[in-house]
Amino acid sequence: MGPITALVVGGGGREHALCIGLAHSPSVDSVHCSPGNAGTSMVATNHEVSTTDTEGIVALALDLEANLVVVGPEAPLVDGLADSLRQAGISCFGPHSEGARLEASKLHAKEVMRSLSVPTGDYLVVDNPSSVPSALDRFDAPWVIKRDVLAAGKGVTVSSDRQVAEQALLEGIDLDGFVLLEQHLSGEEASVLVVMDESGYICLPTSQDHKRVGEGDTGPNTGGMGAYSPAPVASSSVMHRVTREIIEPMHHHLRNQKTPYRGCLYVGLMIDEDGSPGVIEFNVRFGDPETQVTLPLISSDLGQLLLACAEGRVKEEECVFHELSAATVVLASEGYPAASSTGRKISGSEIRIEEGLTSAYVHYAGTVIDGEGRLVSSGGRVLSVTGLAPTLGDAVAAAYELIECIELEGSHYRSDIAYRAL
Ligand code: AMP
Ligand code: GLY
Repeated sequence: MGPITALVVGGGGREHALCIGLAHSPSVDSVHCSPGNAGTSMVATNHEVSTTDTEGIVALALDLEANLVVVGPEAPLVDGLADSLRQAGISCFGPHSEGARLEASKLHAKEVMRSLSVPTGDYLVVDNPSSVPSALDRFDAPWVIKRDVLAAGKGVTVSSDRQVAEQALLEGIDLDGFVLLEQHLSGEEASVLVVMDESGYICLPTSQDHKRVGEGDTGPNTGGMGAYSPAPVASSSVMHRVTREIIEPMHHHLRNQKTPYRGCLYVGLMIDEDGSPGVIEFNVRFGDPETQVTLPLISSDLGQLLLACAEGRVKEEECVFHELSAATVVLASEGYPAASSTGRKISGSEIRIEEGLTSAYVHYAGTVIDGEGRLVSSGGRVLSVTGLAPTLGDAVAAAYELIECIELEGSHYRSDIAYRAL
């Protein structure tokens, strides 16, 4: 295998973490990112092609003679970017459009799970406003209503208020023609990122995201306000069941598709009091911010792992992990998630903490360098501060020590990341 020229598609904190991991891989010669952000420009060469410009990304990869493209976000995968790259003879980490339907359609994911007897909540398709009251009667509160569209984690309503649930159902039917009403699963959530191809799969360390904007998991859902890894709730006995009941059947299903699945299968879990796992959702890509806490725990060569997966030979790979914990805290713009104030100056984010095995540094997300060379905010989730240490408590402490050094007018962050584990 010759040296890898890698192109990462995307521009968030996840893509910054991917670029860092690839830049540190002995197998990787050069790293490019499109469109990238202020952070990726520090470890990779940024390009201006948008993630939704499939032809442009293929042309860029050919131009760079990239032999590995790693696709960060879901939308280009759903739109067939991996299909086009493979047609052009370029290895792509990220599934083809058929595999990406697992994330594009929650109904499709439910149908696959039902056919494989993978544990997940019961569900109903509601497509008629007159059947809304009887549909609500079929499930106990809280009600879970999901639009069957890509909505960046924001198309879901979970509410014990019958009026709110009714409204969400009616709105969903009005917008899309139908909506899903799901059984509410209770317990604690965890995410498992599985690097999967037809030859096998490797589970990365488990993590837990914090999807709600407010302390103690309150307020509206966001793209994710922080994460930590490993997640103690996904104990080895729970993971044994997750593997047997969820990952094995999904792998069997995906490896036998016409075009096998090659990429990350993100398994979003609810683990109940008895340690029984149920699937909340599948995503077809690395999680954000889960990637920021998962990739730094890999001590072996990331480029080699992702290329092996993109070429369908993950079984040959051995992935080695650091004996550390990681925590990341997202710094969000004023108004996020409803709206985001952008164009504001950021300072202090260049600071790094290094004390023995403990470290902390910034993963950049919605950031750009403006015309005057200043680092400014350009999105809702601006950056996340990641701490690594031998214990989770120290990793969290390092992340908070660093985030307090960063200034961005009006910004906010949760001060309770990892509280369930600490
Ligand atoms: P999703 O986009 O499907 O991951 O849903 C977003 C969030 O809504 C999840 O992370 C959960 O916190 C919550 N959620 C979704 N589905 C369920 C469910 N069936 N039971 C309980 N909570 C859920
Ligand atoms: N952190 C949730 C997601 O990436 O979908």
